Amino acid sequence: MIIAITATKGGTGKTTIAVNLAVGLTKKGYDVCIVDADEGQISCRHWAECRDDEREHIPVVQVPQKKFIRDVRALSERYDVIIIDGRPTKSDHNDRITIVSDIVIVPVKYGLYELRAFENYLDIYDSVKDVKGELGGRLSGFVILNDIGVGQTTKREMTEAVLDAIGDSDIKLMNTVLYHRKIYADTPADGIGVIEAKDKKAKLEIESLVDEVEKEILVITE
Ligand SMILES: Nc1ncnc2c1ncn2[C@@H]1O[C@H](COP(=O)(O)OP(=O)(O)OP(=O)(O)O)[C@@H](O)[C@H]1O
Ligand SMILES: [Mg+2]
Repeated sequence: MIIAITATKGGTGKTTIAVNLAVGLTKKGYDVCIVDADEGQISCRHWAECRDDEREHIPVVQVPQKKFIRDVRALSERYDVIIIDGRPTKSDHNDRITIVSDIVIVPVKYGLYELRAFENYLDIYDSVKDVKGELGGRLSGFVILNDIGVGQTTKREMTEAVLDAIGDSDIKLMNTVLYHRKIYADTPADGIGVIEAKDKKAKLEIESLVDEVEKEILVITE
């Protein structure tokens, strides 16, 4: 199973979601490997280097762009789940990340530029999905609201705007919403996920995300 957290814009929460999903699925018993596709920042590798040896080991690997699809597929033979931490550009590489994935998750933060970037990614998603469909493959897509101001106004406004942007694309808006919480920014320094930390609300959010993703994994592998 190959899951990409991707977007055409920087800073939307790709790495935050990638590592938290990796920790959550690992704790559910899945053998998980993270592919850090953002060679410029290698944030996931830094996260893994900060992780205590006594915690579950989650490997982080880099895969060269040139043979990305072949190498990620080969890796997926050795693990239950590959989580790709995507890169923030509208580029061939973002196409490759979408092509190789079974599930893509697109984090969207509050704001007009964030919505425009999501619409840009939707073009990639829709065209890759069409091609995969013609070849007998499949692709599941999700959007998740991230870093949302606590309170219902921002969530409501963003929900309406994202649903409007989705239009008749089949990408789904996740029920899980990740609110703006300091713990999401604090935990990477310790190489942990928020479910390994003390903030109960953040923990519930990530548990809900992991459950939604696991449900889709089960549908796909059925
Ligand atoms: N829900 C949240 N609450 C608070 N801070 C958040 C949340 N999500 C992300 N952040 C913070 O926002 C910043 C950007 O997040 P992150 O690095 O995960 O984004 P990214 O999409 O991987 O960025 P890049 O495109 O640069 O790789 C980080 O400082 C992160 O800690
Ligand atoms: Mg990142």
